[in-house]
Amino acid sequence: MSPVVEVVGVGAATAKGDPPWWQSAVVYQVYPRSFADRSGDGIGDLAGFLDRLPYVAALGVDAIWLSPVFRSPMADFGYDVSDYCDVDPLFGTLADLDRLVGGAHRHGLRLLLDWVPNHTSDRHPWFLESRSSRRAAKRDWYVWRDPKADGSPPNNWTAAFRPGHPAWTLDPSTGQFYLHSFLPEQPDLDWSNPEVRAAMHDVLHFWLERGVDGFRVDVAHCLGKDPALPDDPEHLVVVPHCALNHHPSTAPILAGLRRLVDGYAHAPMLVGEVFLVAPHEMSDYSGPGAFHLAFDLPGSLHTPWDADAWRSRTAATAERLGRDAWPTLVLSNHDTPRHRTRFGSEARARAAAVLLLGLPGTPFLYAGEELGLEDAAIPPERRLDPGGRDGCRAPLPWNDAPGHGWDAEPWLPFPPEAGRRSVARQEADPGSMLLFYRRLLAARRASPALRAGDWRDLDAAPGVFAWERRHGGDRRVCAVNFASAPRTIALVGDWRVEAGTHRTQAGAAFDGRLAADEAVVLRPD
Ligand code: GLC
Repeated sequence: MSPVVEVVGVGAATAKGDPPWWQSAVVYQVYPRSFADRSGDGIGDLAGFLDRLPYVAALGVDAIWLSPVFRSPMADFGYDVSDYCDVDPLFGTLADLDRLVGGAHRHGLRLLLDWVPNHTSDRHPWFLESRSSRRAAKRDWYVWRDPKADGSPPNNWTAAFRPGHPAWTLDPSTGQFYLHSFLPEQPDLDWSNPEVRAAMHDVLHFWLERGVDGFRVDVAHCLGKDPALPDDPEHLVVVPHCALNHHPSTAPILAGLRRLVDGYAHAPMLVGEVFLVAPHEMSDYSGPGAFHLAFDLPGSLHTPWDADAWRSRTAATAERLGRDAWPTLVLSNHDTPRHRTRFGSEARARAAAVLLLGLPGTPFLYAGEELGLEDAAIPPERRLDPGGRDGCRAPLPWNDAPGHGWDAEPWLPFPPEAGRRSVARQEADPGSMLLFYRRLLAARRASPALRAGDWRDLDAAPGVFAWERRHGGDRRVCAVNFASAPRTIALVGDWRVEAGTHRTQAGAAFDGRLAADEAVVLRPD
């Protein structure tokens, strides 16, 4: 176990009895290519992000998750890493990242990096050495296998982004296949090899000692693989990109990562990206001895606009997680169409913010959702991502002027209505989505019940999902009307509106009426 390292950061662990910071925090995901560009090449960078830190701080979030900025040939836009301990020149330098960590801390924000442990780039020196010969020292850092007798790949696993294509590529010079759960440019590491684990642990130490506050762990469920690499029976295929989810060898890997970060006094946090179908399996990924948090992506990203679906999802989450595990909430990210696009209207996207910030769990906001951005329409000649995810990765519009705050044409087209939805326009409009998010985040920050309270479903009215949160003497009620018509709910006692989709002022008495797509956070009168 590593020694406890003191790192100057936002603050040490919370006082005894308080929940850990990552339970009451709101995390803001920044996709660096699309956030802000200082170099003027049309691709967002760390210096541009540093300039916009005051914007993030003013929003009222507590932490930032920065999608990968490590050196990368960019076959998967940074999720193919060729040096885990350096910054890609496209984004800046290591010194820029140090400045960003320091700047974030000065604003009271923690900074999480996006760590990609399942695979490296095929240009990473580890893989270059591994593929150089069957006897190479690092040959068994990756998953190499002989072809079957008929020359075909070792098993039936298929690669993400390439439906029907094998997750194996033949290396002609050594006559073996290597495994890649994603693109051929992303060979899978073999985490059963202690040297791989040690090298990857060194990467975490490198960043933690620079003051980073934790990591989002990419495709965490892919790390533990069945050593027999059996064919994937249909019923085990959860998402095509990872042939064997949830192998028992994952548990000791996660425990090792948790021990490592727990050795640091500034309380770094790990949040795992996990795709699993069986709900009971989620609790194996978060809790003591595993990650602090795990995304329940099928559960939270794929719940439709429906009161009953959200009610049963919330109840199932509460039930499935063990006493020590804590839920996460996420509506949008860089891999999925934005919820403004999925739910079909700005009104619904606005009401959904009450789900994200009012239900129990740690919310993760994806930059731009506070502006109500839709996915951009990408003409065929501008499509870049092999996974077809460009639309949700469109650049943020900062103002209404030509270029929207970008000096060069950005790498992807802007989302629709970029001027009207820009930060500058919305900051000047009290009724805007942006200012609603700020009010909601402030209401959450001010209320122990919203941050950490118990959850109780209030059987309100058809089409309405309403719930109470309670922590000590603090109480809040949240209600979301999913119906396309007005509804009236009856609550015991008198309540006032703390924040609401249809109001710019707090404090009005709540009369029980909710317009279509209206959502409110209420406090006792
Ligand atoms: C995760 C990332 C995604 C990436 C993939 C492979 O799902 O979120 O963007 O393509 O892993 O690293």
